[in-house]
Amino acid sequence: MNYRHAYHAGNHADVLKHAVLARVVHYLAQKDKAFAVLDAHAGLGVYDLQAIEAAKTGEWQGGIGLMQAPFAAGVEEVLVPYRRALGRLNPDGGMRFYPGSPEIILGELRAGDRLLANELHTQDFETLKLNYAGEKRLLALLSDAGQAVKAQLPFRERRGLVLIDPPYEGRDETQLVARMLAQGAERFPTGLFIIWYPVTTEEFVIQFTGAIKALGIGNISRAELRVKNTHAASGLSGSGLLILNPPFNLHGELEILLPALAGRLGVENLGRSQLSWLTPPKG
Ligand SMILES: C[S@@+](CC[C@H](N)C(=O)[O-])C[C@H]1O[C@@H](n2cnc3c(N)ncnc32)[C@H](O)[C@@H]1O
Repeated sequence: MNYRHAYHAGNHADVLKHAVLARVVHYLAQKDKAFAVLDAHAGLGVYDLQAIEAAKTGEWQGGIGLMQAPFAAGVEEVLVPYRRALGRLNPDGGMRFYPGSPEIILGELRAGDRLLANELHTQDFETLKLNYAGEKRLLALLSDAGQAVKAQLPFRERRGLVLIDPPYEGRDETQLVARMLAQGAERFPTGLFIIWYPVTTEEFVIQFTGAIKALGIGNISRAELRVKNTHAASGLSGSGLLILNPPFNLHGELEILLPALAGRLGVENLGRSQLSWLTPPKG
């Protein structure tokens, strides 16, 4: 495992993922009943954008670094839970610390909700545990994401979310993610699942989305944000989210959010977004 999220925290892909994640957890917290979240690839929880790793790539400058100025009111409304997480870590303004997915999720949990934060990298797991020592709602798990999905689902609350956010280092990652979703959805058919994927080449995106579609699971929304042209030499030109069982209002909100992010984060006016159903919605 070579991937360390500290080099990439706050980049354009994190902005998309975390803005949507915050919104989805916010929706879950609107109903009285308790829920749980399994963050299957949790990372550290908090990242210092002035640390050597972040400074080395400077990726955050093309992501969260461009988000300071407010958007139109409708977009800002969708961004409220995300901005709340950013503000909590940077109470004096500015953008020194960036929230990872556990921090984003915790920000929306109530006293009776739970976060299972799973991380396989031993050192990152220790940092995660340390960052949230004393946080009773968070249970840190050191295991493979696929094992965590099998062991933790269905949640005893019968309500909740699973975030699948692997580094896509290995050639078999598509198959691993497809299997995780199939096993997760079988154990917890009413659960919400968010899967992040990188846009590196068109071939990868077609192959990846095709593999998920082939599972035959309905009600998967697809949201994609590209910040530059996609070709083999362009690196990470964008990213996407597949959302199984999205909250009712989310699609409408993404119609507002995605073009705004494409306009703001796109390099030389090359930003584009796409919103569709990978598999047909319910009803
Ligand atoms: C993209 S990062 C996660 C970022 C985090 N979800 C966030 O949004 O802040 C992927 C993480 O998965 C971890 N990881 C890699 N392979 C894993 C596996 N098989 N099971 C669990 N975690 C894994 C990596 O160490 C890394 O911290």
